[in-house]
Amino acid sequence: MSKKSFGIAGGSIVVVIITAVYMITASGSKSKSSSSPAGEDRVLKNAYNDYFSIGAAINGHTIEGPDSILLMKHFNSVTPENALKPGPVHPEEGTYSWGRADRIVNFALRHQMRIHGHVLVWHEQAADWMFTTGGRPATKEELLGRMKEHIFTVVQRYKGKIGAWDVVNEAVADNGPDIFRHNIWYDICGEDYVKQAFIYAHEADPQAKLYYNDYNIIRPDKRERAYELLKSLLYEGVQVDGVGIQGHWSIYEPSEKELRDAITRFSSLGLDVQITELDMSVYKWEKDRRDKRVGESDDLTPGREAQQVAQYDMIFKTLRDYKDKIDAVTLWGVTDRSSWLNYSPVRGRKNYPLLFDREGKPKKAFYKVVDF
Ligand code: XIL
Repeated sequence: MSKKSFGIAGGSIVVVIITAVYMITASGSKSKSSSSPAGEDRVLKNAYNDYFSIGAAINGHTIEGPDSILLMKHFNSVTPENALKPGPVHPEEGTYSWGRADRIVNFALRHQMRIHGHVLVWHEQAADWMFTTGGRPATKEELLGRMKEHIFTVVQRYKGKIGAWDVVNEAVADNGPDIFRHNIWYDICGEDYVKQAFIYAHEADPQAKLYYNDYNIIRPDKRERAYELLKSLLYEGVQVDGVGIQGHWSIYEPSEKELRDAITRFSSLGLDVQITELDMSVYKWEKDRRDKRVGESDDLTPGREAQQVAQYDMIFKTLRDYKDKIDAVTLWGVTDRSSWLNYSPVRGRKNYPLLFDREGKPKKAFYKVVDF
């Protein structure tokens, strides 16, 4: 499969020759360790050409440093990891800081990559000034007015360049019974803030695909709360095009059934599905920040590595089954070195969640994902 689409997607004689050389050399040795030169010929985005786009979350340093080579070779979509969040991009009232976002957008356009905008409304990395007026809490009208101005300014700046937006991030509660997370947006505006964000985003760019994005929504309880939220938005006639299943997973979850059930459930609403922030921790999921404990191992043991290979294999196999529902799968970073999981939620604990190791070499999991 990968060889077939590699040839088709590459299309050039050079690619055909390289592929032929690979096939000849590979026939002498079937083993594909991460140091195998044969691995050089595998290209993630080509292997998935007939399935879905393959994205990576990127920062300024990704496009300026060595990771840019991997990015251009293996990915055909990018998500700015931090540059477009309200805090970084709109640090003060009337002040926008476009430098980093512009560089990322220009890079992606130069290299014919899709751009997924992240994120217009979130309670973290927020533009905190929005929530107060002269030392008192903002009123609902003030906050929604600021939200509208923010959404219009950001979305219209990149109109025609950024085709899809995470409009609202993480509005659903981790635990029941309420659907909504009680965050600062909710405290000031109540449930309306989610709906209003989608309305403003649609007004700002009627062509853009609008996503609701959240984590742990493959877990059945939270999945159902997200489902109810999306169903009621659609029922009210609000333009929502898709759901972003973040995909901050681990070698322990999700199960295949959870993944299938979530994709089926969300797409039953007529929504596109994306896996927007895929990474696979080698530790159990934790929410709260803490320091690494004395004696806590952070080695990539053979056991953890084997579980990761099996889990990546299961996940991509399953996602391929739903290629008609899934528009893009985005990894949250390029190499293990640059992953946020090295400092979050546990400070000082190394993690190994992506498909390329700290030196930028393809990992065993990479080969499982591209060879099918
Ligand atoms: C993370 C980034 O990866 C980090 O660099 C940053 O310090 C914190 O945010 N859910 C999201 C992403 O929607 O924006 C978060 O990204 C990870 C969790």
